[in-house]
Amino acid sequence: MVREWDPRTASSAEIASLVDTLNAVLAADLPQDPPWRESSLREYLSEVMPGERRISWVAHAEPTAGGGPGAMLGHIHVLLLGDIGVLEVLVHPTARRTGLGRDLVRLAARRVYQEGFRSIGVEVVGETPAVAFYEALGFSREYVETRSVLDLAAVDWTTLAEMATAVSAGYRVEFCPGGPPDDLIDAYARAKAEVRDLDDGLRPSSYDPQRLRDSLDTLHRRGMKPYIVLAIHERTGEVAGLTEVVVPAQHPTRADQYDTIVVQDHRGYGIDRAIKARMLLELRSAEPTLAEVQTWNAQANEAMLKVNAELGYRSDREWCEYSVDVAELVHRLDPAR
Ligand SMILES: CC(C)(COP(=O)(O)OP(=O)(O)OC[C@H]1O[C@@H](n2cnc3c(N)ncnc32)[C@H](O)[C@@H]1OP(=O)(O)O)[C@@H](O)C(=O)NCCC(=O)NCCS
Repeated sequence: MVREWDPRTASSAEIASLVDTLNAVLAADLPQDPPWRESSLREYLSEVMPGERRISWVAHAEPTAGGGPGAMLGHIHVLLLGDIGVLEVLVHPTARRTGLGRDLVRLAARRVYQEGFRSIGVEVVGETPAVAFYEALGFSREYVETRSVLDLAAVDWTTLAEMATAVSAGYRVEFCPGGPPDDLIDAYARAKAEVRDLDDGLRPSSYDPQRLRDSLDTLHRRGMKPYIVLAIHERTGEVAGLTEVVVPAQHPTRADQYDTIVVQDHRGYGIDRAIKARMLLELRSAEPTLAEVQTWNAQANEAMLKVNAELGYRSDREWCEYSVDVAELVHRLDPAR
């Protein structure tokens, strides 16, 4: 049974069943990843940036004898943003290879097509069944990053404290839990704008002040706590570097490292290493239950990979972006239409 589904009005039994399915998927595909919790999951699945929409469907087993909802076997949602629909699909390991994944993608693709979007993108984790699945559906690989994970228990905190202060004179490093202070939003957005031409793929960066405010607000609404460390160029007051970490309520023992940027003119002064080291030191006291931090980097970004290795990050998996033309996908899955 497949139906459109609204996480805002879903019963708590459905939310609980979805978490069980998600955790069964993680146990099968990414056994080293921490299981998800129910906290703020509803908000995580429903809150979006202004102008974006997320449409979801669930597949579940027949209702139980007592009339309760059947277990959730699959879930798909598509986030409509810009001119692209970004898909996420889950099929419970016990229900795989029965065509359910393909059925869910067919439904979502039809809707994306009807809504007038031209392409669909998806993040695919290396060495999981999703690779063969999306390739069988005709998606092609656009971009590959490497995910790395830092185990905080293995960090040498004394060395890290030295790294955090080893920044050239003329820069001040500041910790901003919750997001950049209002008086620095413009400078922060300017620093992000510097790298806007680099391919941010399916995770677009926010580079104008209003979009940045909206993005921080959306993170908070989704139960994801942002932490920021800034390097300020003291003479000009400009943001010379920034690093962003988010601690999600859904898996608070593993934080996500988002963007780290050092503005071109300020490279070569030890800022990357210093701001990342300072972030880890601050997180250690602000989030005592945090055990790991994960980050994603382009394989070509050698300078950043080197600093990450010094901090103790270990590369883990390939993380790939795939995309497909919606009309072609609809036709392939539904040749009669
Ligand atoms: C990818 C996924 C959605 C596929 O769901 P599914 O219901 O098993 O897929 P389908 O039965 O519709 O398979 C369609 C086609 O994809 C291909 N395919 C799917 N799984 C495959 C696998 N394990 N090996 C090889 N090909 C596979 C096959 O061509 C298959 O057609 P066939 O069964 O007729 O040969 C499912 O494995 C899943 O939920 N994976 C987790 C997704 C994820 O994002 N994980 C990351 C952590 S959250």
